[in-house]
This record gives sequence, structure tokens and C-alpha cells, in this order.
Amino acid sequence: MSASPWCLLPPFLSKPLFPLLPPTALGFGVVKLPQLCVPSLRLPFAMPPRYNDAVNQAAVASVVTSEDERYGKKQVISLTPQLYDYVLANVREPKVLRELREETSVMPGCQMLVSPEQAQLLTMLVQIMGAKNCIEIGVYTGYSSLAIALALPNSGYLVACERDLKRLEMAKKYYNRACVSHKVEIRHGLAYDTLVHLIERGKSCSFDFAFVDADKIKYGEYYELLLQLVRPGGLIIFDNVLWHGKVSDPQVNDQKTISLRNFNKRILEDMRVSISMVPIGDGMTICRKRETDQSL
Ligand SMILES: C[S@@+](CC[C@H](N)C(=O)[O-])C[C@H]1O[C@@H](n2cnc3c(N)ncnc32)[C@H](O)[C@@H]1O
Repeated sequence: MSASPWCLLPPFLSKPLFPLLPPTALGFGVVKLPQLCVPSLRLPFAMPPRYNDAVNQAAVASVVTSEDERYGKKQVISLTPQLYDYVLANVREPKVLRELREETSVMPGCQMLVSPEQAQLLTMLVQIMGAKNCIEIGVYTGYSSLAIALALPNSGYLVACERDLKRLEMAKKYYNRACVSHKVEIRHGLAYDTLVHLIERGKSCSFDFAFVDADKIKYGEYYELLLQLVRPGGLIIFDNVLWHGKVSDPQVNDQKTISLRNFNKRILEDMRVSISMVPIGDGMTICRKRETDQSL
């Protein structure tokens, strides 16, 4: 067993001194002691925080307060790595999805997968809707499409749009493994063309649920086509609407950020849909196509 770091301290730096330190100096990492104790001594090892400080620091690091005073210092949860691990530990992820995620995790672009808690939300929305006919734009290796397909009834189907044939091969492998291949209609090619084709084939108002996770610059075009394809009361869900936080930073003005910022503004103002922007993963907006003129 290795020696406790406390044994390495000179006697005058015993534990009772530490309550004199400011709470912020009691976390982990290199701690600079105040002049009062010893001249600028740096301890290159982890210092155990007192229990209450650890609790308070975790709680403080996990909230953000609105800077807009009209929201009355409203505090909301902000995920720290520790809290996010806790969220992940509370996700029920089917074994086949976990295997797909783990196989993808060493591939280029692996960060493109929706997160497990997002996949779980998609699954739940499909279930709540009792959805039968779905569309996904952007399959990659199949994580979110498999989550959707698993939630569909046997008679349901998902039109899965993806332009990259190699990525589709892996997705197909997992559809087979999960015994959902009969529910997935793969459309290899540009998603825009597939959506137009579906409309031309008379499929307007026949889909219950759509998930968009590709080609951020085209979100506006997909939105208009999907509004035709989804039935009144159906959902259209867009991923990455917070774009790693860049949408809120006026200093960031690259093409994708501007495009997503404009898209968010556009659907906020569009009374054809009810909306909810959910800060999960990289941000998802759930749009519900209104049945009639509703105000919310
Ligand atoms: C973010 S990944 C999708 C991840 C997937 N939804 C998941 O969470 O498992 C985006 C995918 O969309 C595909 N893609 C990009 N532009 C496309 C387009 N215009 N039409 C079809 N697929 C496209 C890319 O090849 C990529 O595999």
C-alpha cells in the first residue's frame, strides 16, 4: 500500500491548518498556500478536499445562472464531466447499441454519434408518438437509426438517408444483428433528393417522426421538405442546434454557425410548428407540426 500524502507533510502543515485556507484552494491539483502559513509552498499532489467543500464545489460547478436579470437569477443545471458521467450511468442502453457505439468509438468521425441519453430521448419520443413511419437524415454507422428502429413496431419503418456507402455497411451489420433490417429502408444518396422523391411519390403527410442530423447548412431546406412529409401532429427533430455553444457567441461567424443561428431564429418565428429547444447532447430542437392554428 502506498504512503498517504499526509505523511510527507512537515509537522507544522498538519490537517488543522487547512480550514484556514480559502475553500477554492482545497480542491484537487497544485495548491498555493497563503503567505501566512509558509512562503508560497507548492504541493505537487492531490489534496483531499473537506467533505462539505467537495459537495459545495460540485454543486456550484453544476449550475449556471442566467445573466439576464429579467429571469430572476434563474439557475439551471450545467453538466460537469463528473455529472455527465452520472447521467451516462443512468441511461438504459440496449446491448446492441452499446456494441455499435463501442465499435464506432475508434473510427474517424466517432464524435458524430448522438449521445446515449439523446438516443434514449429519441426512442422515448418514437414510443410516445406511437410512430410507425419515420425518416432519418444522416445515418453514419447507424447508432441513432438503430435506436429508432428498435422502438418501432414490427410493421413500422424508417427511411434512413445516408450518402456514404461505407458507413452504411456498418449500419446494415447492426440492423441485422438487432433483427430490425425489415424495418429500415436505406436510401443511399443525397438526403435532399430522397425527400423530394418521397414527396413526388405521394408520401406527403405520411410520416410521424423525422430526425435530422446531417448537413447543417441545409437544415432550412430539409425543414420545408419534412414539413410536407410529416403529418399534422408529427415531430421533426434537429440535432446540433447549439453547435458546441457557438450559436450564442457573436464573435463566431463561420458559415455553419451563421446557418444554424438563422435556422434557430426561423423556427422560433414559424407558427406552423410548436417547438422545444432541449440542451441535451449538442442541443436538439423538437418541432411538432401543428394540426391547426394553435398559439403554443
Ligand atoms: C452526424 S452524422 C450522423 C450520426 C447519426 N445520426 C448517429 O447519431 O448515429 C452525419 C452523417 O450524415 C451524412 N451526410 C452528410 N450530408 C449528407 C447528405 N446531404 N445526404 C445524406 N447524408 C449526408 C454523413 O456522411 C454522415 O455519415
